[in-house]
Amino acid sequence: MLRTHTCGELRSSNKDNTVTLCGWVDSYRDHGGTVFVDLRDRYGLTQVVFGPTGEDALTPIAKTLRGEDVIKVTGVVAPRPDGTVNPKLQTGEIEVHAQQLEILNKCNKAPFFPTQMDLPGEDLRLKHRYIDLRRPEMQQTLLLRSRIIKGMRDYFDENNFIDVETPILGRSTPEGARDYLVPSRIHAGKFFALPQSPQLYKQILMMAGYDRYVQVARCFRDEDLRADRQPEFTQLDMEMSFVEMDDIVGMIDGLVAKLAKDILGIDVPTPLPRMTYDEAMERFGHDAPDLRYGMELIDCTDLAAEAEFRVFKMVSESGGRVRGINAKQGGEKYSRRDIDKLTDYVIQDFGAKGMAWFKVDADGKLNSTIAKNFSDDLLAKIAERMGAEPGDLLLFSADEWDVTCRVLNGLRRRLAAEMKLYNPNDMNFSWVVEFPMFEFDSEANRWVAMHHPFTAPRPQDVALLDSDPAKARAIAYDLVINGSEAGGGTIRIHDSNVQKKVFNLLGMDEASAQERFGFLLDALQLGAPPHGGIALGIDRFVMLFGKLDSIRDCIAFPKTQKATDMMTGAPGEVDQKQLRELHVRSVKPHE
Ligand code: AMO
Repeated sequence: MLRTHTCGELRSSNKDNTVTLCGWVDSYRDHGGTVFVDLRDRYGLTQVVFGPTGEDALTPIAKTLRGEDVIKVTGVVAPRPDGTVNPKLQTGEIEVHAQQLEILNKCNKAPFFPTQMDLPGEDLRLKHRYIDLRRPEMQQTLLLRSRIIKGMRDYFDENNFIDVETPILGRSTPEGARDYLVPSRIHAGKFFALPQSPQLYKQILMMAGYDRYVQVARCFRDEDLRADRQPEFTQLDMEMSFVEMDDIVGMIDGLVAKLAKDILGIDVPTPLPRMTYDEAMERFGHDAPDLRYGMELIDCTDLAAEAEFRVFKMVSESGGRVRGINAKQGGEKYSRRDIDKLTDYVIQDFGAKGMAWFKVDADGKLNSTIAKNFSDDLLAKIAERMGAEPGDLLLFSADEWDVTCRVLNGLRRRLAAEMKLYNPNDMNFSWVVEFPMFEFDSEANRWVAMHHPFTAPRPQDVALLDSDPAKARAIAYDLVINGSEAGGGTIRIHDSNVQKKVFNLLGMDEASAQERFGFLLDALQLGAPPHGGIALGIDRFVMLFGKLDSIRDCIAFPKTQKATDMMTGAPGEVDQKQLRELHVRSVKPHE
């Protein structure tokens, strides 16, 4: 090693030791004859003094040092003079009196400094990610990530799981996103798909008898990106044989409790609470509800039918829903202009046609521009249903069921954040279970799998696959942390006939099911045990455990919102020769 210690290591007990440190110049102060440098590495900062007490010849070189230069310093550890001890710094009791200085690398014109107060825009930080990653916050996050992954690996190792790697070049597995494709040079016109998850491989491993599989697996999905989505992300992927839902959920409960204790120091009682999908949608309008606060959705469809207010009346008579939330004591905080902004928000972001609202007067009466369309008696009934008290703000969505879910979930989350209804440090873990097997995709005019096509229906719902697929519920479970979907899994179909039926419902005739998934249908007839599993989003775990806003801050080299790598410039152009070898011709949209 070029160094004897790290920059976070030296204490008073090292007094008079001769040490060598290496690191980045974090800051320097030139006090005439004496130059002070804070030297930084990922372990901390150490003050190095070049000056009267060191070799005189070093001071002129030290005066040339600038932020982010990489240097090697040898010197003697000394207590800091009285009054200059820095209790905020781990090494704040000592300083190193330099005797030798070697500049290992000059930093030419840094585009920004890791310690500067106001950080530049994310694009510049991602372009020079090596500088951004020098920031202590980033280093803490990557350390947290490493500890979470190690905690997961240890846990599954202790529980007798074996780690098996599955291919990156494979066949498309439908997880609902677009595939990233890799053209084959050897087989003209054919493509590999990068895995959206190792789903089918892990199921095949169960059929091969490896009854407890785990993998830290990279997944690739070409989908619209958001703060919690990356095109390339990492899952803790697991699968078990001869199990029921409780076995998988229980195994993950144990993991969550261990990580919460080891990493955050909090005790999480298990089993974690469970709620069905139907209940979650009814009470919160979302399948990953944030349970750190209340403000539940309240149905007023029956009352709305009695109103003169056209929208309410029409919606309730045409089979839609009129539901609302009560923002306790929000009446004062939200002015008419603020409410207009909320209305624009639900129209633009969730396809609402509008938003009805009432403020609750000091005498408990509901007040609004639309109040004249309601009898006093009806207003009183609505107030009672909504649990209205003076000062409250009631917001309503009247629309088709799914629109009311989207709108009220959006409002609930936004208002809770704006009104500070929860402590951002609180952690809430829960399960949502019994998802529908299918959703109807009205654009494509067909059923799509809500999880993926390999998900088993509840035994009592198998017959519904023929009679009423919309009603069939899956043995599916999502882990929810603070209102984010942190993981999802299912018990799988292990009967080839049920699997064929599901493929058929999803619009695949027998020939295309055989062509795409023949290997699975074969394996399901050659000794397939009952099995199930789950995948946890590791990036999301880090984001939630680290209280971060963006998944990009949890990944060393993330892609931007537009799915590009700012540092390397990927995706980039390739030679025509490469394309020819791959039998691919690229046609840009405007050509
Ligand atoms: P699913 O598609 O629900 O299930 O994914 C599991 C978890 O992975 C995380 N996740 C993502 N994280 C970041 N960026 C993305 N684009 C992204 N997409 C998903 C989420 C999610 O809960 N094969 C099944 C699992 C199984 O059935 O065992 C699967 O992949 O946290």
